[in-house]
Amino acid sequence: MRVAIIGTGYVGLTTCVAMAYLNHEVVGVDVDPKKLEALRRGKSPIHEPGIQKLLDQVGENVCFTDKLADAIANADIIMIAVGTPPKRDGDADASYVEEAARQVAQGLQPKRTYTLVVKSTVPIGTNRRVANVITRALSERQVKTKIHLASNPEFLQEGLALRGTFYPDRIVVGVEESEGVEALRRLYRPILEQTFEPPSFLPRREGYSLPPLITTDPTSAEMIKYAANTFLTLKISFINEIAGLCEKVGADVTEVSRGIGLDTRIGQRFLEAGLGWGGSCFPKDTAALLSVAGEYGYTMQIVQAAREVNWRQRQLIVEKLQSALKILRGRTIGILGLTFKPNTDDVREAPAMDIIRALIGRGAHVQAHDPIAIPHARKLLKGLDVAFEEDVYRLADGADALVLVTGWETYHSLDLAELGKRMNNRVLVDGRNFFVPDDAHAAGFVYMGVGR
Ligand code: UDX
Repeated sequence: MRVAIIGTGYVGLTTCVAMAYLNHEVVGVDVDPKKLEALRRGKSPIHEPGIQKLLDQVGENVCFTDKLADAIANADIIMIAVGTPPKRDGDADASYVEEAARQVAQGLQPKRTYTLVVKSTVPIGTNRRVANVITRALSERQVKTKIHLASNPEFLQEGLALRGTFYPDRIVVGVEESEGVEALRRLYRPILEQTFEPPSFLPRREGYSLPPLITTDPTSAEMIKYAANTFLTLKISFINEIAGLCEKVGADVTEVSRGIGLDTRIGQRFLEAGLGWGGSCFPKDTAALLSVAGEYGYTMQIVQAAREVNWRQRQLIVEKLQSALKILRGRTIGILGLTFKPNTDDVREAPAMDIIRALIGRGAHVQAHDPIAIPHARKLLKGLDVAFEEDVYRLADGADALVLVTGWETYHSLDLAELGKRMNNRVLVDGRNFFVPDDAHAAGFVYMGVGR
């Protein structure tokens, strides 16, 4: 099929290369000249495992342009995957989605059939607004063409985006007309039936079963996305709240997590206690859900509580450091990891950013390491006195404590004894329960995890 994808961020670009890999003819549209320049050279502008390899592989099946009208004119499927940044009131800003829809409406050709898919995570009801934009524009242009509007939320995790695209748990399609469902079924057929040859670096997991296509109305599809993300935040905040009590009673939250997660009704994933959730989705989507609820005077207490618990987790670090070092003013604290989770260069809403600000606010000197995200963090923390360290061992030089914020795989091979030798005080606050406490003790550290 001919597919036009508007927006080449994490979601858009992943979808572009995956659809091209499945032998669809894909055009990616973006307004950012820098991104386009990179993409035209065949270079991925984002750090996402596997994307570069697929870009190298898909060749002519994908191209990139800033000419939206040209890109969509002959497309069977048009996907909107532009950003929906948070507004001041917490609601997600759908103006880029609506602007994209307006431009799409100007480029639609007469007497054709299109399926227009909203992939961005949008405030509930956006689908209807997009429908109005299109209908009005077509009537002004006096153009008659068939357009099926669908909401097709993605559930991609950064760092695992291609895995989530090729081997999803389910595909959700919210669309009123059956022709729209059929168009998307055709688009996703290779995934729904798993008929494609897996990329060499991304084999199909043994026991993976065919993903169901959930067809529903657009509003329910929009809600599914918010409810899914919010439920995951509840799980994490729940285990973090349990972790707090574990510390008081002397239990180990990692054991508790395993013990409850093996109950299949609960499930093991997203039960890792630590500094809590960040990133471009969870904080924004929970805020947006609360904002929608607020429009109806409806209070979502559990969601509010999950956000509060999440905020408290970040403050925990300062408390733990204070309990170990007493005074933070004048102390040197080394931060291990700046991204909101490993395997991404994304520092948006990353706990490390708040923790660094809080430590500096208390008069500490902060030095920070990350395997890939230093340039991004530098931008976000501009004006703050942070010493970024490319060499993780030098991070320990003269430090009074190390704080692990992001569990990068490479940190597993750290020589803790060597780090300890370089420090003033051997204090290790493990914000992700990443290290084996006995290893840290053996290297002479005072070790503090979260809930253990
Ligand atoms: C999330 C959703 O998982 C995805 O379905 C949606 O499409 C976008 O939002 P992402 O933001 O990439 O994806 O990150 P995710 O892997 O879900 O992690 C979110 C945050 O939760 C990270 O900061 C991570 O460190 C934290 N987390 C995750 C925990 O603290 N504990 C866990 O057990 C799992």
